Amino acid sequence: MSVQFKILIGILFTVATIVVLVLYGINEDNRMSQYQKNFAGRTIQAGAEYYETYCATCHGEKGEGIVGKGPPLNRTDLLDLKKTPYLKQIGWQGTTPDFIRNTIAAGRPQFSSYYAEENYQQHMPTWSEDFGGPLRPDQVNALTAFIMNWAPGENPPLIALVTPTVGPTPTPIPPEEILKAIPFPMPPSDQIIAEGKDLYTKNCQACHGENRDGKGPGGLGSIKPPRDFTDCTGMAQVSLVLHHDVVVNGLPATGMPAWGKKLSTEEVWKVIMYEREPCKLYTP
Ligand code: HEC
Ligand code: HEC
Repeated sequence: MSVQFKILIGILFTVATIVVLVLYGINEDNRMSQYQKNFAGRTIQAGAEYYETYCATCHGEKGEGIVGKGPPLNRTDLLDLKKTPYLKQIGWQGTTPDFIRNTIAAGRPQFSSYYAEENYQQHMPTWSEDFGGPLRPDQVNALTAFIMNWAPGENPPLIALVTPTVGPTPTPIPPEEILKAIPFPMPPSDQIIAEGKDLYTKNCQACHGENRDGKGPGGLGSIKPPRDFTDCTGMAQVSLVLHHDVVVNGLPATGMPAWGKKLSTEEVWKVIMYEREPCKLYTP
């Protein structure tokens, strides 16, 4: 077996497991299914942001494609789940979402023969960190969900794209349950806030300021000033998911560093809780 084939089998197996887990969950509990749908909605939203950042330059804002850079993705022959003649033509046996997820994850280190005449300037990059790219598997999932959302008609497989991890929910859940659900938010107890403050002082204060008002000396001269965590109108725009994403991945264009490799998941959430404390915006 070639390495690629083994990787492919691995991916398909993982996907199959996810589908089975999700379907099982849905049958078992209707409330869960509603929850999964909400989560799917948020996943698509996150996917839209990633798409804008990483993909639109080659595939176009609306997936219409750009001559010389990347093929259109918003096309019926690729996305129509009842037809997908393109996938038949290239001999793909799996589902459409699997094809898309797989392509995003691994990229196309070589140009395909079916795009030979397009003379694209660059290869389709490898995106998943599983293959040495920059994106986490959940980000690849979100991108897949976003692209599949262009498919015509009802879109049943979307639910199957939802990773069966516990996410932020709009209904309050007991703190001990939340703690179990790490990497999702932990309760803003005195202890968590104190630990978050400690992490903030060491890592963030230089730019975001001693008073969490964005006026630290390290932020002077940034294109955009560091976030003022005491401005509650502004903070209302920063969802928990966005907050987490910015801390983990940074905003390279504006000088906000990425902390995902320096801080543990728990530490990231603790510092987030401390930053959200002035406005008490603890729920998603
Ligand atoms: C540097 C330009 C570039 C960027 C950035 C890029 N792509 Fe691509 N993409 C391509 C090219 C070129 C192809 C076709 C490659 C080939 O098959 O020869 C492609 C193919 C694809 C395909 C398969 C389409 C098909 O018809 O087979 C998908 C799906 C895709 N890209 C998704 C994405 C997503 C999602 C992102 C953002 C995470 C992205 N691409 C970013 C250039 C790019
Ligand atoms: C070197 C300076 C610097 C350090 C250190 C720094 N930040 Fe930032 N941060 C910035 C800048 C500049 C921005 C504004 C970027 C923008 O809005 O585009 C920012 C923005 C943010 C945002 C807001 C994102 C938004 O959408 O408004 C969050 C959240 C954040 N930082 C968290 C942190 C955390 C947590 C730490 C410490 C673990 C930290 N930052 C350390 C410079 C810094």
